[in-house]
Amino acid sequence: MDIGIAFDLKSDFVAPAGAPDDALEEYDSERTVAAIEVALLRRGHRVRRMGGGKRFLALLLSEPPDLVFNLAEGRGSRSREAHVPAACEMVGVACTHSDPATLALALDKALAKRVVAAAGVAVARDRVVRSAADLAAFDLPFPCIAKPMFEGSSMGVRASSKSRDVAELAREVERVVVGYSQPALVEEFLTGPEFTVAILGEGDGARVLASMEIFPKGDATADFVYSVEVKRIWDERVEYHVPPRRPPAVIAAVEQLALVAYRALQCRDVGRVDVRMGGDQVPRFIELNPLPGINPGWSDLCVMTERIGIDHDALVGTILDETLRRLGRRLGRR
Ligand SMILES: Nc1ncnc2c1ncn2[C@@H]1O[C@H](COP(=O)(O)OP(=O)(O)OP(=O)(O)O)[C@@H](O)[C@H]1O
Ligand SMILES: [Mg+2]
Repeated sequence: MDIGIAFDLKSDFVAPAGAPDDALEEYDSERTVAAIEVALLRRGHRVRRMGGGKRFLALLLSEPPDLVFNLAEGRGSRSREAHVPAACEMVGVACTHSDPATLALALDKALAKRVVAAAGVAVARDRVVRSAADLAAFDLPFPCIAKPMFEGSSMGVRASSKSRDVAELAREVERVVVGYSQPALVEEFLTGPEFTVAILGEGDGARVLASMEIFPKGDATADFVYSVEVKRIWDERVEYHVPPRRPPAVIAAVEQLALVAYRALQCRDVGRVDVRMGGDQVPRFIELNPLPGINPGWSDLCVMTERIGIDHDALVGTILDETLRRLGRRLGRR
């Protein structure tokens, strides 16, 4: 099969002067693209690097591959992750991961939570705040957390993000709104343990691949934020427990919540769902990543699958197999 890899490298962009130091955090490294390329080559496919943006579009039109392996984060809006799959849809080229509607919906954390909550999943209460002035009518209890409404890789989620009063929150909202040019999603701060759940497949066939607890080293659980600072030096700051060191009933509840959220957002092939308990020990949905990072040895998805014996090559192959099975089902139905 002729597979094109769609991706956006950190080195393709220049952060504007004065931008926060994590402005390009979502983008991939050359090493990640090379690892995917090698994994696909080892499975006997022809592989081309198509990049992202206009370069990807031009290649998609001039030399369409049989399938696009999508890593592209896109740029500039809450629809950015939908750009590549939407272009593929337009020209009739198959693409791994979820469709453009799911990718756009999931990136807008406020909208995604509305859909997931409507399916009966517990979520932290939130308010969308467009400027610090909006906080005059703010009515959630503290502590709170303010985060960019449509970013990932903890962009804009910093060690300082937990706010204990309205003065701290105003500072955080200002930082998010100005630094990332988008509204802040302010949520009740969940003080319990944190988990992430990897899921494969789609619809009734969706199933949990692995789940992991993100366990802070040193920090008290109630204050822990899996921030940019922590993710950059994760081996010093957190322990990863796969499976979580929790009673089976707790793990089952976390995994079931993740599955319901995954199906509610109509994800396909693969996704990673972040879950955290409140002080009441009830798990709540934080967000869903339908295009989870796949940096070898570093991304949560890679860490958790390695711990259950799936190396990076096998992970890439597993995602591809899900896509091919899905495409086979579609063809079978015609
Ligand atoms: N409501 C909340 N209560 C407590 N902690 C939270 C809450 N929302 C986010 N966090 C903390 O901030 C971290 C990052 O938040 P979130 O997962 O929404 O961001 P992200 O950038 O989309 O993450 P990813 O790297 O998974 O794409 C979480 O892993 C969690 O530690
Ligand atoms: Mg997250």
